Amino acid sequence: MKRLTLFFAALAVFASCCPKPENFSVIPQPNDVTFLKGTVCVKGAAVEIDPSIDKASREAIGRFVQALETATGVKTKADGDGFDFKYNPNLGPEQYYINIENDDVEVEASALNGFIYACETIKQMLPAAIYGKKKVKASWVLPCAKIFDEPRFGYRGMHLDCSRHFWSIEETKRYIDLMVAYKLNRLHWHLTDDQGWRAEIKAYPRLTEVAAWRAGTCIGKDYESSDGIRYGGYYTQEQMREIVDYAAARGIEVIPEVDLPGHMVAALAAYPELGCTGGPYKVWERWGIAKDILCAGNDEVFTFLDNVLSELMDIFPSKYIHIGGDECFDPYAEDSTFPWDVCPKCNARMRKLGIKKGPDAKHQLQNYVTERVQALVNSKGRHIIGWDEILEGNLSEGATVMSWRGVEGGIKAAAKGFDAIMTPHTFLYFDYYQSKERDKEPLCIGGYLPLENVYAYEPFDGLAPGAEDHILGVQANLWTEYITTTEHLEYMLLPRMCALSEIQWCDADKKDYTRFCTALDHTFEILDVMGVNYCLDYKGLIGFDRQPARDSVALAEYLEAAKATWGW
Ligand code: ACM
Ligand code: ZN
Repeated sequence: MKRLTLFFAALAVFASCCPKPENFSVIPQPNDVTFLKGTVCVKGAAVEIDPSIDKASREAIGRFVQALETATGVKTKADGDGFDFKYNPNLGPEQYYINIENDDVEVEASALNGFIYACETIKQMLPAAIYGKKKVKASWVLPCAKIFDEPRFGYRGMHLDCSRHFWSIEETKRYIDLMVAYKLNRLHWHLTDDQGWRAEIKAYPRLTEVAAWRAGTCIGKDYESSDGIRYGGYYTQEQMREIVDYAAARGIEVIPEVDLPGHMVAALAAYPELGCTGGPYKVWERWGIAKDILCAGNDEVFTFLDNVLSELMDIFPSKYIHIGGDECFDPYAEDSTFPWDVCPKCNARMRKLGIKKGPDAKHQLQNYVTERVQALVNSKGRHIIGWDEILEGNLSEGATVMSWRGVEGGIKAAAKGFDAIMTPHTFLYFDYYQSKERDKEPLCIGGYLPLENVYAYEPFDGLAPGAEDHILGVQANLWTEYITTTEHLEYMLLPRMCALSEIQWCDADKKDYTRFCTALDHTFEILDVMGVNYCLDYKGLIGFDRQPARDSVALAEYLEAAKATWGW
């Protein structure tokens, strides 16, 4: 990542500095801000846009101008004092520079993401009404300041599980809008799982006719029960393209996940010949880890995966394709007979590959599946990401590991020379409870992940010296087994995603939990204007000494308790 230029650093030194204005509440906190004397009024300001700025950036600036005009109720002008958007080729694609001084707001960037982030920073410096749809009387001024900003990590992800519960195109766009406000740039879209297949694949119509629908859903935590209500849905290819385009216009790349070879019961219900036993299978109505997975000995399975992934790669232009790889083997299964152990085709494959029987055999066979799919993905110029279980075989070069069972997978991957994305459940699983008062929270999967523990996460902790460059970035995951409504989804997401954004964006020495919590008050005003739900439990915890939490006794105790309760 490029550092700020000497030119900008020198500018900051010569500026006459002022203390931070009380209402400066931008999340994630920009990395370099120098406050100056005075303010600039932006109501009815002029907007000048350098013609060398690309079309997508001009459209993003246009959306910002539209929001300003709506909220102030006054049209912007073509010239005079006001905004001056300039193309600056010396800045990296996600860097931006804002100079608010002498009645002008100069904004410089070199590419779409830089311009978007500059606009998002300015929006957060203005009254929350800028996020609304109506004219509001407010103080439409910006404090004079010079802001130079760039992210700490290039990969700043948020995951969404649309299999366990389905989110409409409009709900998904709203999720993307929230990600943009906090400068995230990757949506990991978990499109397939045991409980529902959500992507239209033209070569396999039964995926949307059969695999997208379950006959019912278990009630609460009673996995043997079913409400008997047919549930499901899917995205057409056109709708998935719509999401890809909507996100791309907002600086976000959508990474599709086809979870394989496990978490495939829904697909098996549609095409039972792809399983070891041939079925019949039913789209799962309960949560957990299913025993039935794709047969690794059947070449038809690879034809299926080739066709599915090829269609998806036509829709999703992302550098990475997520191929899952988690929880293929249920560690808690009472009956330890696993389909691959007894399947004649899988056994023949193992013999052919020279895989010896024993506890490691299944990992080696999974590795064979991963390698074949990796070769296919690579043949289209893309790269695979897999959950950290893929490290248990002899993972091939070029794979990226998503560390979820803790931080260890990422640490080990980086030590072995693989790139890794850190998404440890201990800090970044937003399907966990936020409060100790569980009876006051909506039912969820379990765990305990309060805001301050999210905020305390440091992605380089535990890494071997020199392995930092292998950490591409950080992501939080939102699994939706127990989440059925947008209100609940947003409650689980916020404000924890704001904490995530500071882990992803801010240099470690710029993080400050007290400052962050103060800034959250403005975020809540913004979310109120947007009509977005959020959790306020953390407020009851303020005052507890957590600076920085990760060094505190509190965090150590939390990890110990979590280990005992959840077997982490
Ligand atoms: C996962 O949470 N099973 C990746
Ligand atoms: Zn098999």
